[in-house]
Amino acid sequence: MTAAQAPADSGPAALYQAWCSKCHGTDGRGRAAATTRLAVPPADLQECQASTAEPEARWIGIVTQGGAAFGLSLDMPAFGEAGTPAQIRAVVRYARSLCGDSGWPPGELNFPRSFLVEKAFPENEWVVTEAGRGQALIYERRFGKRLQVEGAARTVFDSLRRPFDGVTASLKYNVWHSLERRALASLGVEATPPLGRQETWEIEPFVSFGANPGALVLQGEVVASWEEAAGVTAFSYRLGVGREVGRVVPMLDAGWTVPRAGEHALSLYPQLWMRLSRLGHVAASVGAEVRAVGPEPRRPRLIAFVLWDYGDAPLLHGW
Ligand code: HEC
Repeated sequence: MTAAQAPADSGPAALYQAWCSKCHGTDGRGRAAATTRLAVPPADLQECQASTAEPEARWIGIVTQGGAAFGLSLDMPAFGEAGTPAQIRAVVRYARSLCGDSGWPPGELNFPRSFLVEKAFPENEWVVTEAGRGQALIYERRFGKRLQVEGAARTVFDSLRRPFDGVTASLKYNVWHSLERRALASLGVEATPPLGRQETWEIEPFVSFGANPGALVLQGEVVASWEEAAGVTAFSYRLGVGREVGRVVPMLDAGWTVPRAGEHALSLYPQLWMRLSRLGHVAASVGAEVRAVGPEPRRPRLIAFVLWDYGDAPLLHGW
């Protein structure tokens, strides 16, 4: 589908009314005009969570190239020939302003998930991970602007009989973000009860951050480990660096663990993150954990995950 030419008055609001309103509604609510029939209901542009969680560049891509280029409905037209890049940027900014509520962390700061460093951006996500012989199923859900709750269940298939490893619940809160500085920081806590192979309660408060100076993405985390009866047992310092190259992001994480008793350990995690769906809501990563320094030198472990950002689109949409 191609789009109509720009109106004579081409301010962003007028562009929106001329180009977008017949399907997305004059107020952006996604109520199409009575004369317009659509197979897939258009996005509600006033829904802040949906309109802030992805970067502006992606909306510019969808509006320029049309929905089909991102695996979305053919009904979402391409405006790349009707408008100039400046007009498209202006109409996208206008559409994103319809949310009318600031304080939502912007999608520009939603950096790719790494193996080790907890991402600071709150997510709506399902993740399946595999690390050596261990698996985890993780569910993350946003509440409001800044809060995320998470539940994870783990299994290990090794020589021991009990494959059920345990569960962890966590909370994460984005305390600060700045689009101008391209950085954000969050506080959180993870709690692991004595279930499965876990014998005591373990509580891990953490602070995590992400930043995007220039072309690099930096993510970091500091975690304290507290165990029932033993108290604080260790601190971990984690840092990851990556760089987006088209659909893939090569990354390297380093984790340095300083236990209160015993030897320090340093592990490296080279990994390759890749966008699987055209929309980008399904992604995967493969890599390894390599112990560089520390006790009982372990063999490298293979690590992989697949994630689905269910807040972005249904699983089978966007391919
Ligand atoms: C002919 C109808 C139509 C017009 C005109 C139209 N859209 Fe859409 N738009 C849709 C439909 C339908 C979808 C849902 C596509 C899907 O989910 O498969 C959509 C989806 C989108 C999305 C994707 C949202 C998401 O969830 O990722 C954005 C952004 C968007 N439209 C912005 C615009 C803007 C801005 C304009 C005006 C420049 C516009 N649309 C004009 C029908 C339209």
